[in-house]
Amino acid sequence: MSVASPPHTWPRRHLLNIDGMTRAEVEACLDLAVEMREWRERGERPEPLRNETVGLAFYEASTRTRVSFELAARALGAIVIDLSLAGSSVAKGESLIDTLRTLRRTGVTICVLRHASSGAPHLAARETGLRIVNAGDGTHAHPTQALLDALTLRDALGALDGRKVAIVGDIAHSRVARSNLHLLPMLGAQVWLAGPPAFVRGFDDWPGVHVATIEETLDGADAVMTLRLQLERDAGAGVPSLREYTWRWGLTSERMLLARPDAPVLHPGPTNEGVEITAELAASGRSLIGRQVENGVPVRMAVLALVAGAA
Ligand code: NCD
Repeated sequence: MSVASPPHTWPRRHLLNIDGMTRAEVEACLDLAVEMREWRERGERPEPLRNETVGLAFYEASTRTRVSFELAARALGAIVIDLSLAGSSVAKGESLIDTLRTLRRTGVTICVLRHASSGAPHLAARETGLRIVNAGDGTHAHPTQALLDALTLRDALGALDGRKVAIVGDIAHSRVARSNLHLLPMLGAQVWLAGPPAFVRGFDDWPGVHVATIEETLDGADAVMTLRLQLERDAGAGVPSLREYTWRWGLTSERMLLARPDAPVLHPGPTNEGVEITAELAASGRSLIGRQVENGVPVRMAVLALVAGAA
């Protein structure tokens, strides 16, 4: 009798979104991130990406995502090309696909792409021959942020099965929220949403997701995530005024009394302190915002290694 080969847990060339991934793939990625975090702590450098060239193509602003992808690729031994867009042919009107095909011809093998258009990474994956990692596309998806959020939650709470995770604020414009709305229920969490009506409308159709008042959403929550008000995506049109938004949906230590004692607070950053979260709460002992940034590097190491087929 032949022994069945183990199931593939990571069969993909690209990481475009969480939707369509299996729980086994997600868990394989998080487990590898933990292993890579331990490599970094021990100062080990196995360099599984030494034959890869990673191109960073950020068509939208980024600090933590871009820096952590660059550190992740370097930590694995890859050559890293940062396509500084102001100085590239993009400034002369070259199309996204032409630019990425040029990168491919120069020897780039993996492209980390951030773009204002939802779906741009899917187009790039189809048209360029590059392995594509989505670093945030429009309001659609930000899979590596959701993976690092899940790892940070798992570090703090253990398994997420049956846990109540509250997400508060500008859900409608947030690619982070959308990726988390796929990922957290997949890991067994109950996700509760609260925010201005225009920002939560329609989300109660998502499996495993509840839309409720801020009080109901925070009540007994095991963890609370708040999001930046995405003014560059016209979020201002959905709220009467910034003051009212803060008054109704801003996270404060007082409001957090509704959640479980010591329930952690997360925010993908950058924070608008004093708008969606007080500076005091963001800097408090229950804030995991710094841990989220720290977990960005090992999670992106794991994703790059898996996409390269080098894990
Ligand atoms: C997020 C993004 O770009 O979508 N930031 C990030 O990657 N950490 C969230 C945001 O900009 O508010």
